[in-house]
Amino acid sequence: MEKYKIIGSHPLSGEIKVSGAKNAALKILAASVLSKDTCQINNIPQIEDIKRMTEILESLGAKLLWHDSTLTIDPSGITKSIPDQQLIKKLRSSIVLAGPLLARFGEVTMSHPGGCIIGKRPIDLFLSGFKALGAEIFDHGESFTLKAKKLTGAKIVLPKVSVTVTESLMMTACLAQGTTTIINSAMEPEIPALAQYLNKCGAKITGAGTPQIIIEGVDGLSAGIYELMPDRIEACSFVMMGLATGSKIKVTDCRPEHLETVLAILKNAGADLEIGPDYITTKTSYLRGTEIQTHEYPGFPTDLQAPFTVLMTQANGRSLIHETIFDGRLFYTDKLNAMGADIIMCDPHRVIVSGKTKLNGKKLESPDLRAGMALIIAGLCAEGETTIDNIYQIERGYENIVPRLRAIGAKIEKIKD
Ligand code: EPZ
Repeated sequence: MEKYKIIGSHPLSGEIKVSGAKNAALKILAASVLSKDTCQINNIPQIEDIKRMTEILESLGAKLLWHDSTLTIDPSGITKSIPDQQLIKKLRSSIVLAGPLLARFGEVTMSHPGGCIIGKRPIDLFLSGFKALGAEIFDHGESFTLKAKKLTGAKIVLPKVSVTVTESLMMTACLAQGTTTIINSAMEPEIPALAQYLNKCGAKITGAGTPQIIIEGVDGLSAGIYELMPDRIEACSFVMMGLATGSKIKVTDCRPEHLETVLAILKNAGADLEIGPDYITTKTSYLRGTEIQTHEYPGFPTDLQAPFTVLMTQANGRSLIHETIFDGRLFYTDKLNAMGADIIMCDPHRVIVSGKTKLNGKKLESPDLRAGMALIIAGLCAEGETTIDNIYQIERGYENIVPRLRAIGAKIEKIKD
């Protein structure tokens, strides 16, 4: 098995360019099945989650053509709506394909995506939303089938804010008859970007990016060119990496306007940042412990909680980290304690970090995607050698991360066990 080997305590320097947004790319790939026309997506990151999603689309009969980071998808050859269930099981977020396949073909069978280490990840809100749009649900235990001769618009009130449920129902409702209103919808920037593309293809969506989205159903959609936005989570992970290692690095090709809350919190904690229109530069800073709670957009993103917690081990004083979204997203902190951090878990949703602590290199295993990035940051801060196993979890979401970090001076390499 391959692993990362990091020699820490070396400041970084230089510029690092942010890749296209994983969580936007996965949904636009799903949206491609809504039309028979060929679409083109630019700036797609070459990461494992994208590879899994493209394998699923090809298993359905779509024709895909890569040219550097541009992907052209011809969905006209899709003749079935039952994806390869083994492929589905490899990608939890493949659930976002269910709605578009149901809308285009009137039927879809998917495996239950199952939970993961960060939480149970139920799909009850997906199913109740599809039912509200007129779908019949047949549960087969391991998998489920949705059927709808025709979908009709409905008023859907989400009891919980959910990013992928909002996106799925928005996509599905585009081809329903009549008007759909989604109330309590998520507002992440990837959602208005998806709506803007769908509207360019003939959809009639208003309110995306607000808590209420209205979709007027249409008979069909064309396809077009979609420019993927930079990954805000990757961008700010690099910012936190620069701050934690006391480095001056310039994170380029990013959208600081998508990170207002986090950047304000970092500055309040003492971070010395230069923020331009499409870049963020970190400088050596005297960081103070601070209190955060994760929250749906525009609040502090749960996907930045782990990198931030590592950063707070290098801040002076106490921090309270309150993870409100997922019930299993703080357990990686025991690995940081093994490196020398001083983190107390109050309950599965809250930890108290006491800094500043010296970290020592350790043999680690990446529990999930974002905690994996946090462990890389911890390794770069630590004295000595850190190895990180289970790097597939990291390569699910961070493109060519080793060469990109080496280019800013990180002593990191991929080695075979
Ligand atoms: C999206 O996941 C992202 N994934 C996650 O990023 C991100 O952490 C999350 O949004 C929150 O921002 C993708 O976009 C592919 P949710 P999603 O539904 O949509 C509960 C990463 O690292 N819920 O907004 O699955 C759920 O359990 C990933 O890139 C239900 O109860 O998250 C959670 O407590 C990790 N029933 C809450 O909603 C449902 O049917 C919010 O999760 C669906 C969700």
